[in-house]
Formats: sequence, C-alpha cells, structure tokens
Amino acid sequence: MTDLAAAAPPYSPGLAGVVAGETSIALVDGEHGRLLYRGYPIQQLVERGTFAQVCELLWTGAWSSGVAQAAAPLPDGVLTALGQLPTGTNAMDALRTAISVWGAQQGLTWPPTVEQARALTCFAPTALAAWGRVRRGLRPIEPDPALPGLAAAFLHQLEGVRPDAASARALDAYFIVAAEHGFNASTFTARVITSTRSDLASAVVGAIGALKGPLHGGAPAEVVSQLHEIGSPDRAEAWINAALDRGERLMGFGHRVYRAYDPRAAALRKVAEGMSGTADWLRLAVQVEDVALRILAERHPDRPLKTNVEYYTAAVLQGVGLPPDLYPATFALARHAGWTAHCIEQAGVDRLIRPDVHYVGEPERDLPAG
Ligand code: ACO
Repeated sequence: MTDLAAAAPPYSPGLAGVVAGETSIALVDGEHGRLLYRGYPIQQLVERGTFAQVCELLWTGAWSSGVAQAAAPLPDGVLTALGQLPTGTNAMDALRTAISVWGAQQGLTWPPTVEQARALTCFAPTALAAWGRVRRGLRPIEPDPALPGLAAAFLHQLEGVRPDAASARALDAYFIVAAEHGFNASTFTARVITSTRSDLASAVVGAIGALKGPLHGGAPAEVVSQLHEIGSPDRAEAWINAALDRGERLMGFGHRVYRAYDPRAAALRKVAEGMSGTADWLRLAVQVEDVALRILAERHPDRPLKTNVEYYTAAVLQGVGLPPDLYPATFALARHAGWTAHCIEQAGVDRLIRPDVHYVGEPERDLPAG
C-alpha cells in the first residue's frame, strides 16, 4: 500500500457497511425482516393497495385513493429499434435499448420530475411486452385504455388476450413487492447518474444494466429449474444435500441484508396461495422450502439463511403464465417505481457522488529511456 493510501480512511470492499446517503423512501430492516415504503409495511401495501398507488406513494410521499395508471403507446422509433435486435436478445438488453431510444425521443431535462417518472414507468411495460411479441414475429398490441393498471396492461399487450382478474391482481401484487428496496446496486447506479445532473432515462438505462448482472437480477428462473429437478418432496433432502456437498447454492435462499425471513417472500407466498393453477407446484415449493431451511440451519448454525423474495416470485410469475426468460425484465418493470423515486430524491440533494479511492499502483517514476 502507498503512503497516501495508508493515511486515507479504510477501504470497505463492496462498500459494505458504508453509509452512502440518506433516504426517506424505504426502510429495509434486515434484522427483523421488515420492509416499509414511506413508513407503510409491505404486507399492508400488498393487501390494501395497488401498484399505481404505491408508485405515487414512492414518488410523492402521499397515499391517495383513486389513482389510475395506463400503459403508454409504443413510439415507431422504439418499434424500429426492437425490430433490429436479434430474436435471441436478452430481454433486459431489449428493455434497456427501448428505454434508451424513448429517452432520446423525449429529450428529458434535469431535474427529474414526478411527471417524467410516471411517463417512464408507464412506457416500460409496453416496451417489454412489445419485445415479447416482436421476438416471436408478432405485431405489438396497442394498450387497451379500458384495462386498469400496468400489470393487466402488460399481460394483455404480451399475449393479446385480456388477463383474468386474479392473474392481473397477482402480478400487480408482485409489482408492489418488487417496486423498491433501498440502496441496492441498480438504485445506487441510478442515483450516481442523477447526481451528475444527467436525465432520468439515462439513469434508468444505467440501472437496468446493473440489474442485469446475475448477482443482482435474482434467480427466480433458477428456482423453477431447481424445483423441476427435485421433482417430488421425498427427493428434496437427498437433492439438497448433494447440491450443497458440490458447493452449490440453493436458489431463493440467503440475502445480503435480511437475516430474518424476507418479508417480500412472505407476501408473495400469500399471493401464490390465493392463485388458481399453482396448487401442485406450490405444495412442492412449500415442502422443499421446509427441508431446505432445516438443512441450511444445520449447516450454517451461525449464519441465518432464510427464504428470499425470488423463491415465491417464481411461483407468482409462473402462475400468471410468464416465460421464465422474461422474469428479470419483469422485475425491472416494477423497480422503475423505486429507481425513479430515488432519482427525484437524489436531485433534491444535488451533490455529485464521487467517492475516494486508494491508489495502490506504482509510485511516481520516469518513463524508460527511448
Ligand atoms: N445456499 C447455500 N449456501 C448459502 C446460500 C445459499 N443460497 N447463501 C449463502 N450461503 C452460504 C455461503 O456459502 C457462505 O458459506 P461459508 O461461510 O461456509 O462460505 C455463507 O452462507 C455466507 O454467504 P455470503 O456469500 O457471504 O452471503 P451474501 O450475503 O454475500 O450472499 C446471496 C447473498 C448472494 C443472495 C446468497 O445468499 C446467494 O447466492 N443466494 C442464492 C441466490 C439467490 O437466491 N439470489 C437472489 C437473492 S434476492 C435478490 O437478489 C432480489
């Protein structure tokens, strides 16, 4: 280490334990398994609210009834851009591209506003649904103004049929649960970009790039294949022990912040229990979960490893009929609410985020002769 680095404050890999800001948007209480949006518990928001209300709550701090949200139409330029992507393109790349084109067309200026946040959050489901069709050689579907809410609109624009009320409600509940989660990597990315006084679309494009990484974007599709491989509850114990003996991780368990049961997993489990058509899969998931939690506790007595949000995300997204390769981008649709709320909050701080770094390279020296 150089003398300069030795004299500087200590470095914390991954910024673990470093307080990088203040927020009044959400409290993530990992010790007690609590998640509050503007003070309201996630379970109450899921049971009594809609995603439209939650978005307004995150953006403005106010809880209001009668809030409506309608999907935005697809601009021609975005359709042209999506049409030029290879059909095997990762859905996160397609969504990121669509928002980049949309942002260029909108000419958004700093600081971000609630109106901009609304427009972007209502455009994203249209963009992802369009990609879900364009890649299959199908034409995108115009939003149906009679359909209330972005979740129903997304399912309709993806498949071309109006979803049943239960599926729309289940996806809306998922959007609420996934809307916001403090200073995670993608939200922090969005805040860094906003701190330079760049525009909201640029911040969200960066956030999608951060969310795409497998350490952040989550593992619900892998939960599906894990349960598929296990097949029946009587095979769970042997399968799990063999996987852990090979040094693998159980998908849908463990979290950087939560030491208690992830409150989002609890909320989504309730949603999944209320859905029709998920009963067999859910029964297997619940029984495998019991075995997994027991084995993880035996193997890690000092490190609580509980169920995380991804475990029951898989149940809900599978129940509403989404293809697993759209799961991460569907998560991004919900997280637009939190990202854009943080951008608005960051603009209020209006201070460039620019941390220090320890230089650990060569000391000053002269170039070799010649
Ligand atoms: N299965 C088995 N063992 C695990 C798991 C798991 N899911 N998670 C952590 N561990 C073990 C580790 O092997 C490690 O053991 P060791 O101390 O004997 O080496 C110990 O628990 C601590 O692990 P860390 O890597 O320090 O835990 P960290 O908090 O950094 O990891 C993470 C969190 C990445 C989510 C991890 O728990 C994991 O990989 N889980 C599986 C993937 C998953 O479900 N991801 C979705 C997370 S939620 C989200 O992203 C929205």
